[in-house]
Amino acid sequence: MFLGGNWKMNLTPKESELLAKEILDLFEESLKEREDIKVCVFPEFTALERVSKVLNTSDIYLGAQNVAYEDKGAFTGEVSPNSLIELGVEYVIIGHSERRHIFKEDNELLNKRLLKALDKNLKVVYCVGETLEERESGKTFEVIETQLKEGLKNANINKDNLIIAYEPVWAIGTGKAATPEMANEVHKFIKDFLGNDFLVIYGGSVKPNNAKSLIEQKFIDGFLVGGASLKAKDFFEIYNAMREK
Ligand code: PGA
Repeated sequence: MFLGGNWKMNLTPKESELLAKEILDLFEESLKEREDIKVCVFPEFTALERVSKVLNTSDIYLGAQNVAYEDKGAFTGEVSPNSLIELGVEYVIIGHSERRHIFKEDNELLNKRLLKALDKNLKVVYCVGETLEERESGKTFEVIETQLKEGLKNANINKDNLIIAYEPVWAIGTGKAATPEMANEVHKFIKDFLGNDFLVIYGGSVKPNNAKSLIEQKFIDGFLVGGASLKAKDFFEIYNAMREK
């Protein structure tokens, strides 16, 4: 299983360092008991160095929220995979719905990012998910299949270098999570498409009070948590719900 904390653009480097310390204090003991549950935090780029120092020798992984598709050059505003690796980053999120919808990153661009990341031995959390309009017009599976086909094109993927995060756009940051059954159905679809051994995690308004019912579902292998990952205690409660699976 996999638990990711996506801090988005919510914390300064100093605040990120504090949160990382709080998380480490809460999680440290339990992580040793459950090596099958990987925990990873995704701070803002500017906070990676400080958080990396906090997590350095711990069992919590460090992730980044995006990655450039080239090593270096004239790409103003992008962040090189080499820099991330130098800071101790092991996972990168690619195709988060905020990148797709606010910054108009399309499947073709995401595919370039993903191919580069895998080539650099970074592990990828690739996000897919439908908008409310797409769901209501019955296009959920079609949209997700296209995101998978185009985003993963020509990629040498396996269960160790790729995690899929199913994040219905209408559930992100809205407090309106998918029902466990709804999420499970899409997770099954993704596993039927990619293979059963790939981890498929759910994201979209995961909170301590709904984590248990979601994780009980057969095809849900963990979570990508936004808002609730900013509070160490809530993040830990979600982890504890996972420990019961
Ligand atoms: P949320 O965000 O938990 O705040 O809904 C999830 C995500 O965007 O990864």
